[in-house]
Amino acid sequence: MAKSAAANHLLSTLTPLHRHTHTCSIVHGFSQKFKRFHCLATKHNFHSKVSGERAQYFPPWFSVAPMMDWTDNHYRTLARLISKHAWLYTEMVVAETIVHQADNLDRFLAFSPEQHPIVLQIGGSNLENLAKAARLANAYSYDEINLNCGCPSGKVAGHGCFGARLMFDPKFVADAMAAIASNCDVPVSVKCRIGVDDRDSYNELCDFVDTIASLSPCRHFIIHARKALLNGLSPDQNRKIPPLKYEYYYGLLRDFPETRFTINGGITCIDQVDAARRQGAHGVMVGRAAYNNPWSTLGYVDSALYGMPCSGVSRRQVLEKFQVYADSVLGKYGPKSPNKPSIRQLIKPLLHLFHSEPGNGLWKRKADAALRNCTTVKSFLEETLVAIPDSVLDSTLVQGQPTCENGFANFGDLLPPPYRSSTYQRQSLCVKELAANCLT
Ligand SMILES: Cc1cc2nc3c(=O)[nH]c(=O)nc-3n(C[C@H](O)[C@H](O)[C@H](O)COP(=O)(O)O)c2cc1C
Repeated sequence: MAKSAAANHLLSTLTPLHRHTHTCSIVHGFSQKFKRFHCLATKHNFHSKVSGERAQYFPPWFSVAPMMDWTDNHYRTLARLISKHAWLYTEMVVAETIVHQADNLDRFLAFSPEQHPIVLQIGGSNLENLAKAARLANAYSYDEINLNCGCPSGKVAGHGCFGARLMFDPKFVADAMAAIASNCDVPVSVKCRIGVDDRDSYNELCDFVDTIASLSPCRHFIIHARKALLNGLSPDQNRKIPPLKYEYYYGLLRDFPETRFTINGGITCIDQVDAARRQGAHGVMVGRAAYNNPWSTLGYVDSALYGMPCSGVSRRQVLEKFQVYADSVLGKYGPKSPNKPSIRQLIKPLLHLFHSEPGNGLWKRKADAALRNCTTVKSFLEETLVAIPDSVLDSTLVQGQPTCENGFANFGDLLPPPYRSSTYQRQSLCVKELAANCLT
């Protein structure tokens, strides 16, 4: 897809108000490669914007986390029907998959234009393959490419230096980010933990960030604010057991004023997103809550965070649109096509749409039964939606989101001591000073 076409599409998703206040402008990013339209700007937030001579990079205010088997095309289609402004991350796609499936790339990389703004997350530890993957993915016009440095899964971490294990080798990550950036036209970012195993001090986290920010064009880090334990915990436990240390995140904001950070981990409602931002967070990423309760989590993003009027859309309307999408996907493939998704895969993201609502339990039981015989999403919905009262199906989101415990106290007392740069950084500074002296 041509870049200008993607930019025009993005422009068309803005409301007239936003078009008026932020007419489309060409923005020069922090590397020569980063020239792109930033019509994604909303009233308060540019992903990147011109500031005097130098372009500044701003991460999205709100994003939905990359989640394997969850944030697939079907989920992202549903999410976009609920929020026009949330940034959507793909599931992680392994660089080798992209490289080895170069003839079948649509299966892994294609998405509909409505899904912009969208970020591709890749995983890998081979520089050549990461570079090739970025080059191949570039043709799909993602809005950013992200490298996974946080996944503790045995399946991933066992394949050499991959996922969270990459945090042990910041120099490699810097090389990887440089390789990815020089093979694509969009900003690049890293998603990482605050530490791995016993490499979990604040200073070590800063060394990681400092090395990458000083040796590569990466200026955006998504910080899942708990460490990863590579042995003994399942991926699920690794998302629950290591304690959240938001103070590390806020320490990074203080110690790296030129770098942008998105906070992630344990944020479950829009009140908390708002509170994190009021504390200074550049961006907030939400994972499980956006999947397990999409209506309440994503439904308030546009109005509460981006200052848009409530969309007034109901779940019945969302489902009608989703059904058209899902049945058209089914219709695209012949019955024996290996790429044809099952009806179960298509329906999966819908199953949380009535979280905590009257009729939810019955709807799930009916869904289970219907999945055994329905061949279209239309028939699935006809058979199951009788379980949900009309008052739920037709209710719309109203201004003012439900409140929850915000959990973002003032971190003043907890902040780690300011970063002291590591031996590596001090050595490289010495080398630079020596070189400067030699030249004078
Ligand atoms: C089912 C599932 C799959 C995940 N897959 C990925 C992944 O592919 N890449 C990644 O960086 N993080 C992955 N994560 C971690 C999330 O992106 C996020 O960092 C984590 O869930 C913490 O955020 P939360 O507390 O808002 O859920 C996954 C999480 C879940 C629940």
